[in-house]
Amino acid sequence: MENNEAEQLVKEFKEIPPMPNVMMKALEVIRNPYTGIQELATIMSVDQAISAKTLSLVNSAYYGFRQQITSINKAVVLLGMMKAKNIIMSLAMRQMMTTQGSRELWEHSIRCAIASEYLAAQFKFINPDDAFVIGFLHDIGKILLAQKDAAKYSKVKYIAQQNNQSLIELENTFFQANHCELGALVAKKWQLPVILINCIKYHHNPSLSSLPAACGIVYIADRLVQAQVGDEILEPEIMERLPMRISDPVGLREQLISKTNIFLKEISAN
Ligand SMILES: [Fe+2]
Ligand SMILES: [Fe+2]
Repeated sequence: MENNEAEQLVKEFKEIPPMPNVMMKALEVIRNPYTGIQELATIMSVDQAISAKTLSLVNSAYYGFRQQITSINKAVVLLGMMKAKNIIMSLAMRQMMTTQGSRELWEHSIRCAIASEYLAAQFKFINPDDAFVIGFLHDIGKILLAQKDAAKYSKVKYIAQQNNQSLIELENTFFQANHCELGALVAKKWQLPVILINCIKYHHNPSLSSLPAACGIVYIADRLVQAQVGDEILEPEIMERLPMRISDPVGLREQLISKTNIFLKEISAN
């Protein structure tokens, strides 16, 4: 699909949701080279839910810090700016993803973020902190489809799952658009980096991307953390065109699911 055709299409959808305020502030702070940990800690402290959940996460087995951490300042120092920002993002996007998408979408996004971060650290094609952001936002286009017609989109997802059909093809048939194209437009509207827009657009077909290694990380992460997997977790015809090999997808999937369960438990608790 041509770019302007896709943009025309997005006009037919409801307005692209604005980025949540706290996430916008966190991104501004990170982009500005003169701001420090203190500013980020201040943003986190203002939001009670974010600060409480960040503290419970840094005190959990997920990070495994030895000492008890009771202040947000200390938590941000120990985590570092980028990891702190990724926690802000996971929490700040929760409301938008669950109300305009679904709870499953939010959980799946977190699982994919953690898996992408892990794979990026293993394969070293992209920075693991960037991989977290890409993994987290990869399915953001689903929000637009759910906004357009929630009942119809639930039906499309149900058909795809029951018949093991391609979700993208069904989206194209029922909506004349798919979540990859729409997600890339959301990322563009939010002025996110090009690598992110590209990976969102091609996460189901990484070999078509101009950045196949980066997209491949998100493709693999996405497949490994799916709630339901068929016999073929990773599609051989896609994997053979990617520059990385996964020798034991079943074992890796188990490992990643238990890792993501700890993270989700801490940030889902009230
Ligand atoms: Fe997807
Ligand atoms: Fe996904």
